[in-house]
Amino acid sequence: MKSIQESILVANWKTNPKNQKEAIKLFKDIIKSCSVLKKKIIICSPNIFIPVLSKIKSPFVSLGLQNTSFEDTGAYTGQTSIAQALPFKVSFVILGHSEVRQLGETSELINKKIKYTLKKGVTPIVCVGEQFRDQEHTYFTFIQKQLVESFYGLQKKDFPKIVIAYEPIWAIGKNALRDATAEEFFEIKIFIHKVLKDVFKLTDTFLPKILYGGSVDDKDGKDFIHGGADGLLIGRASLDVKKMSLLMKSIIFK
Ligand code: PGA
Repeated sequence: MKSIQESILVANWKTNPKNQKEAIKLFKDIIKSCSVLKKKIIICSPNIFIPVLSKIKSPFVSLGLQNTSFEDTGAYTGQTSIAQALPFKVSFVILGHSEVRQLGETSELINKKIKYTLKKGVTPIVCVGEQFRDQEHTYFTFIQKQLVESFYGLQKKDFPKIVIAYEPIWAIGKNALRDATAEEFFEIKIFIHKVLKDVFKLTDTFLPKILYGGSVDDKDGKDFIHGGADGLLIGRASLDVKKMSLLMKSIIFK
């Protein structure tokens, strides 16, 4: 059985905090908790803070982007490429986050970005998740479509280099309908594995790690980990050092 210390924690800061000074403080405070607890974390900060944060070294933190263009350079207004971020030791990138998909990013585009990210030797954290849960269970078909389209054309050997985050949209953010349960996560994890095995002919050794994201905090993070999540994608709670410290403690010691 894998050690709970191995679980992958990803902080998605979104468009926070409000300035560089606060970003540096938050980053340093999180690192402090991480080093006390000997727990590693991936921080996906807004691009503007990445250069300054990359100067703060710690074996307990890795940097990630929240999106990328799919080419090193070109006519992609508003987008930064992995090639531009690599000098700042960025090793992860969130792709297909629902907030990005809602702005029009399609699975076809996410597919291009996944291929580009893998080519650059960076780990894509690919988000999937449905808007609503319906009695007819059409959300399974929705997630299957996202997986099949986002991973189109990938080879078996690519999958262990990918991390998937299951983020049901109805459980994300301040306006979440309710929290998801660990059982709901586990059911989707089994489903994702089945799709990857059926469609991409993966055997167990090639299956990617699957995280849970959506209003995770110090109260319920451990439930998802103990319920089979390989890690967590944390939004709002990742801006609160106290919550992060309690969350890490709960995962490690319970
Ligand atoms: P939340 O965000 O934890 O604030 O719900 C999670 C995410 O959107 O990645």
